[in-house]
Amino acid sequence: MLYRQKFDTFIRQYDDVGYITSKSDFGDRVVDAAGAVFLKALSRTGQSLDALTAKIAASFIGVDTAVLQKDVAEFYAMLEADGFIVSGLTEAELDAKDTRFSYAALEPKTIKKDFTPIVMRAEKSTQEFLDEHFKGKPHLTSLQIELTSRCNERCVHCYIPHENKINDIDPALYYDVLGQCRDMGLLNLTLSGGEPMLHKNFLEFLRKAKEYDFSINILSNLTLLNDDIIAEMKANRLSSVQVSLYSMKPEIHDAITKMPGSFVKTHDAILRLIEHDIPLQISCPTMKQNKTCYVDVLNWAHEHKVRAVTDYIMMARYDHTTGNLDNRLSLDEVGTVINDIINNDRDYQKEMANADMVKTDARDISNDIVCGVCVSSICMIANGNLYPCAGWQDYIVGNIKKQPLREIWDNSPKVQYLRGLRKKDFPQCLTCADKSFCAMCMVRNANENPDGDPLKINEHFCKVAALNRKIVLEWKERLQA
Ligand SMILES: C[S@@+](CC[C@H](N)C(=O)[O-])C[C@H]1O[C@@H](n2cnc3c(N)ncnc32)[C@H](O)[C@@H]1O
Ligand code: SF4
Ligand code: SF4
Repeated sequence: MLYRQKFDTFIRQYDDVGYITSKSDFGDRVVDAAGAVFLKALSRTGQSLDALTAKIAASFIGVDTAVLQKDVAEFYAMLEADGFIVSGLTEAELDAKDTRFSYAALEPKTIKKDFTPIVMRAEKSTQEFLDEHFKGKPHLTSLQIELTSRCNERCVHCYIPHENKINDIDPALYYDVLGQCRDMGLLNLTLSGGEPMLHKNFLEFLRKAKEYDFSINILSNLTLLNDDIIAEMKANRLSSVQVSLYSMKPEIHDAITKMPGSFVKTHDAILRLIEHDIPLQISCPTMKQNKTCYVDVLNWAHEHKVRAVTDYIMMARYDHTTGNLDNRLSLDEVGTVINDIINNDRDYQKEMANADMVKTDARDISNDIVCGVCVSSICMIANGNLYPCAGWQDYIVGNIKKQPLREIWDNSPKVQYLRGLRKKDFPQCLTCADKSFCAMCMVRNANENPDGDPLKINEHFCKVAALNRKIVLEWKERLQA
């Protein structure tokens, strides 16, 4: 019998624990030090039980091979049952069992439904386990790289000031960072921009990221998609491509991107990626221009079994100029969108119907972390500057040309400062009635604040949280009436 990890699973070792995750909704598992040895023995080519046992035996002293082989077989049987690995007599059988993402295999009209046939075996959720395990020594698991700040579009809401859309990453720097990320056990690599496909080395960048076995996400407007990129995406273990589509009306989409013809290119590229079974997510931020037609994008995506998300929260540019916010929805307009969501989004309805507001309102959040920035994720722009989160490019926590990534991650005072922040550092939030509906976010605070202060809460978001709570509570009352 041969065993092999599945196409879209990733294995990492963090200190003395092993970690396996699947990008097709099978979740993840953490195993102890012995299990980590069993996990590490697996690879992307089939290996027999004898070969795997011999590999594993080298890590244990005085072990009875027959007993070990039984343990190994049981361990892999559990991983196979949980959807992480495949077994078979030949590579062809492994290939046949290693089903990849396909739109045809998705149930019609179900996009976010939970169809995972697994029982959680761990008592705690994996994330809780890892958070506890890494307490005091956070691991970098996600990096977003802005391959270029250049862009062929000029979106009215973009957080990158248009005059700064001028820099490409030096390939040598990109490859160097990738090597450092591999050494640090990075799992998720996001390639973004600007428009990442404008970089002349984009294809090589994608190939190299595959060699390092990262789970790759691409953020793109897809206007430059071509056959070579599609072929590489198919060969690569791409987790997802996130594309921005603002309207199904070409004139509205193009008015947002300020690029005539962009709708047709993005729309057609989405259809081509669907045709090639490349997992997609459509991002459709709402703003004044598309407030009456963004729903058409969500419906179109739904018909094509593509996950689509909308977002009425727009942040200011990272140089603290706020001209782009002229396009942001007013509070009344946000109210209409929230009403649309609570009346149409079944997932949100389910979540809100089951939410115990009394319990969530009473929960003590003082020691909760604010978010994952500098706890598990970080970003980098073309010149090597590292910053905490997409859109927060001017909060520079270090530069990779001057210091290794690990040193910045472990020792940068700004990284440590952000990592140490807790909800109690926002005292007005602790007793706030609207906290369960709040998407308070430090980059949104900082960008809209003339001094760039991430702790200075932006009142717009408080007003949105209060409105969201009011609308949901009214909806719940109607439900119970
Ligand atoms: C900066 S773009 C980079 C990738 C690519 N050029 C694109 O547009 O998809 C990434 C995402 O950020 C969103 N975005 C841009 N400016 C924003 C802002 N001010 N607030 C919130 N999201 C924004 C875009 O709509 C897009 O979905
Ligand atoms: S949102 Fe994306 S496509 Fe639009 S200008 Fe910004 S980087 Fe370019
Ligand atoms: S609504 Fe404002 S005060 Fe309340 S939790 Fe959110 S940011 Fe804090």
